[in-house]
Amino acid sequence: MDVKPPPDRLYGRVKGKKLRPRQEWLLAEFLPRLSWPDVPFAITPREIWLEVGFGGGEHAYELASRNPDVGYIAAEVFETGICSLLSRIAPDNVEHPEPLPNLRLFTDDARPLLRGMADGYLSKLFLMFPDPWPKARHAKRRFVHPELLAEAARVLRQGGEWRIASDDPTYQEWTDEVLGAQTAFAVTRATERPQGWPPTRYEAKAIAAGRQPVYWALTRL
Ligand SMILES: C[S@@+](CC[C@H](N)C(=O)[O-])C[C@H]1O[C@@H](n2cnc3c(N)ncnc32)[C@H](O)[C@@H]1O
Repeated sequence: MDVKPPPDRLYGRVKGKKLRPRQEWLLAEFLPRLSWPDVPFAITPREIWLEVGFGGGEHAYELASRNPDVGYIAAEVFETGICSLLSRIAPDNVEHPEPLPNLRLFTDDARPLLRGMADGYLSKLFLMFPDPWPKARHAKRRFVHPELLAEAARVLRQGGEWRIASDDPTYQEWTDEVLGAQTAFAVTRATERPQGWPPTRYEAKAIAAGRQPVYWALTRL
């Protein structure tokens, strides 16, 4: 699979606070055992799902655990988030942790990953509370963007699903506009989290701060 970064690359791994020794160990020793695309799934997946920007990893971990026959690729660039998902899989108190057979981590920009995927490769795509890039001059960086929407439409199989959530009013308006101008997906929009969508940490913070999330479920036509 070709995952070379395009010229508009924004991210390598993004560092936060200095890591604790356990986090250093997770990145240096445990991550290479479940790093996509170097390590294939240890199952023959029924379908492949991709989550972009998994944050603390609660959504990815829950869906991958609940669906052991699905190959789940979880992408994140922020080191603290990557460590957070790794420590769900390898808790401190487990002496010989094992990767989940169906969960793999991609720790770089998810956009070139998506662009390198074959047509119809994915059955589901998750974009939960993407960075909003509220300034108009940064609109090109938004994951929901006509150009990337065409890529998502290419990579999702017919009947495949793309879930998007956002609490940011500018991003909500933008998403409604971009989705209103396309014909590749049937779209439903809700202000209550649909059944079966695991909650995320960012969502909890947004609701506690009084922001109203919007949830879009897109079906590839
Ligand atoms: C606002 S947070 C939301 C995290 C999580 N989905 C949640 O709901 O709690 C957005 C996350 O997307 C990640 N991200 C942004 N652009 C990305 C990209 N191109 N590829 C992979 N991850 C990305 C950021 O590092 C950040 O952790």
